[in-house]
Amino acid sequence: MRDEGNAPVTVSYLTEPHDHREDLLQDVRHGLTAHHKYLPSKYFYDAVGSKLFEQITELPEYYLTRAEAEIIREHADELMAELQPDELLELGSGSSTKTQMLIEAMYRSGPGRRYVPIDISEDALREAAGELRGRYTWLEIEGLVGDYVADLAKIRRRGRRLIIFLGSTVGNYEPTMRYSLLRSVAAALAPGDSFLLGVDLVKDEPTMVAAYDDSAGVSAEFNLNILRVVNRELDGDIPLDAFKHVTRFDVELSCMAQSLRATRPVVANLRKLDLAVTFHEGEEIHTEVSCKFAREQVGRDFEAVGMRVDQWLTDSKGRFALALGSHA
Ligand code: SAH
Ligand code: AVI
Repeated sequence: MRDEGNAPVTVSYLTEPHDHREDLLQDVRHGLTAHHKYLPSKYFYDAVGSKLFEQITELPEYYLTRAEAEIIREHADELMAELQPDELLELGSGSSTKTQMLIEAMYRSGPGRRYVPIDISEDALREAAGELRGRYTWLEIEGLVGDYVADLAKIRRRGRRLIIFLGSTVGNYEPTMRYSLLRSVAAALAPGDSFLLGVDLVKDEPTMVAAYDDSAGVSAEFNLNILRVVNRELDGDIPLDAFKHVTRFDVELSCMAQSLRATRPVVANLRKLDLAVTFHEGEEIHTEVSCKFAREQVGRDFEAVGMRVDQWLTDSKGRFALALGSHA
């Protein structure tokens, strides 16, 4: 790639670490004292969780990342030539690996030289920014550590925007939360801006189940890591060996649902909350949904927030889709 000098690279906070910690304390208290216990999936992603997710993306069973990469590879140039964004704003950017194809296409086919990744995981964001810095010296990178649910409206715009939300991370929200997230995305789009959304499609159950219960046990480790995060941040003693990774397809919600099931009775202390939590044998902590979509559903979701689907692109095996949207 041609060198156009050294563009600035910054990583700063949208959510102050203190606020983030407060949220975590409140969320864990709420989730582990609820009748049906739960933990919000955003707490998977400390440094270890982010690495485990990267390992998941390379598992033979986890087809999502490869399928989405195939679509991006095939369509990145035509998308960028058509949309001509000045900046690429990415929600939940993680390692930004697939995004590199969009960044390169933006360089080849459009005016944009600016990338704004937002992620709750500072480790993942810093690592990705370092990697991109080394590859694309012309790229201005404004990394934002924050929560895209709470903080999207705080991000200042600089010209025509393409907001991207890849990996089917939108599927990690149940419908009510999904609508409010999509509503804030719609509010962050001006006329002429676009939104590129990656969604995993409904398919045969064994394929979906295997993607969340791989033979190497990485998905199980990823799920259990949320208890490590809780123990570390709240000075807790939840015994990880007393919990088993469970995943199932919920037909009504059209979601894979992940949880941790107690294999024996447990009493655990979370000293920072001054809280003792009991689990009976077989009790589950719900940790994640991964919803699966059809084209009609995405059309309805977009319509509900005042957007329309302009393009629907799928991989060669029809497993995954990218929906390009804008204001209706
Ligand atoms: N987009 C990447 C990574 C997906 S993993 C891909 O397609 O492979 C989900 C990413 O979203 C993680 O990096 C995680 O840290 C981030 N994330 C999860 N919840 C978040 C939230 N509420 N706000 C910001 N980032 C979040
Ligand atoms: C980030 N997100 C879309 C992944 C998913 O498929 O729901 C996280 C994940 N959970 C278990 N495996 C991967």
